Amino acid sequence: SKGGYDHFMLKEIYEQPNGVKETLIRRLNADGEIQLDDIKMTKEDLDKINRVYIVACGTAYHAGLVGKFAIEKFAKIPVITDIASEFRYSNPFIDENTLLILVSQSGETADTLAALREAKSKGARVLSVTNVVGSSIARESDDVFYTWAGPEVSVASTKAYTTQLVSFYMIALDFAIKKGTITREYYNEMIEKLKEMPELVEKALEQETYIKDVVAKELKKSNSAFYLGRGLDYNLAMEGALKIKEISYIHAEAFAAGELKHGTIALIEEGTPVVAIATQDNLFEKMLSNMEEVRARGAYVIAVAQEHNKEVEKAADKVIYIPNVDDILSSILTVLPLQLLSYYVAIERGCDVDKPRNLAKSVTVE
Ligand code: F6R
Repeated sequence: SKGGYDHFMLKEIYEQPNGVKETLIRRLNADGEIQLDDIKMTKEDLDKINRVYIVACGTAYHAGLVGKFAIEKFAKIPVITDIASEFRYSNPFIDENTLLILVSQSGETADTLAALREAKSKGARVLSVTNVVGSSIARESDDVFYTWAGPEVSVASTKAYTTQLVSFYMIALDFAIKKGTITREYYNEMIEKLKEMPELVEKALEQETYIKDVVAKELKKSNSAFYLGRGLDYNLAMEGALKIKEISYIHAEAFAAGELKHGTIALIEEGTPVVAIATQDNLFEKMLSNMEEVRARGAYVIAVAQEHNKEVEKAADKVIYIPNVDDILSSILTVLPLQLLSYYVAIERGCDVDKPRNLAKSVTVE
């Protein structure tokens, strides 16, 4: 049941503090270290791996883009994240030194499963991040990391995504400490920061009223929107754009903010909504100038920023704040206002949130 919420999507958005917590604490031992009992990968196995492919579809693919960020930053292994329906046709370099990580909420997505079979036949080791115990992808993988999101009913994926993000941070930290690419001190610090996440997720969701009463009422008026970000935030822009397309039928495109000048800025006119994601401290100034650029051409700028970056207000029409957070972990918080915004814009536009047109929860044909 919807447990008092109007839609499964909203219920599942509010289940995220718990999903994040479950995914995390089930893997922390008494010493507060990550224990991945379900991943039997040793230091020797990891040292052999010279390339990681992360393969998935849709929202799970977007989680995989963040996964690339985390694995490359912490474990220093090159990662390619690819769309499952493209992977097999792109001549991937797969051998026994390849690790393939599949991400799938349902564990049944046809293209993702096909990628798994192809990679296995070429000798790759396969690790899957999935939400459904005993699903096809879980059964055929060498190692499985379960996201403890609980059943996801809403077609628009929300809590699966945040638990996939937590999974990637844990996998990346585990690989890194085994390989010796980060110090024990840094590892402990990151785990402490991850442990604060459930509470910060709850805090970020407190922006609901502002998003519903103010921001959604602006965005609903438009039939197209741009989502901009740099670095990690570019991946969040992609997820934010997908979420608004699928349930509110607003055409949205995500762009790396620095790429805008190379063509897309021609589309900005008076009133064009631009969702500018500016949560990365080291890229903050650059994002501010991109926001000023589009604003000078008439864009209506809705920014997402960390609480301490109040300076963002000078370049935005509306600002949604997330709690202060380590840049690398911000993805878990940044997506929350984007989910709420999609939900409330869809409601404002009278869309059937839980049953968006033309979509199915699980895509079992290639
Ligand atoms: C978007 C959405 C889809 C799924 C995609 C993969 O909200 O739900 O993009 O993420 O179809 O599904 P799974 O994760 O089940 O493989």
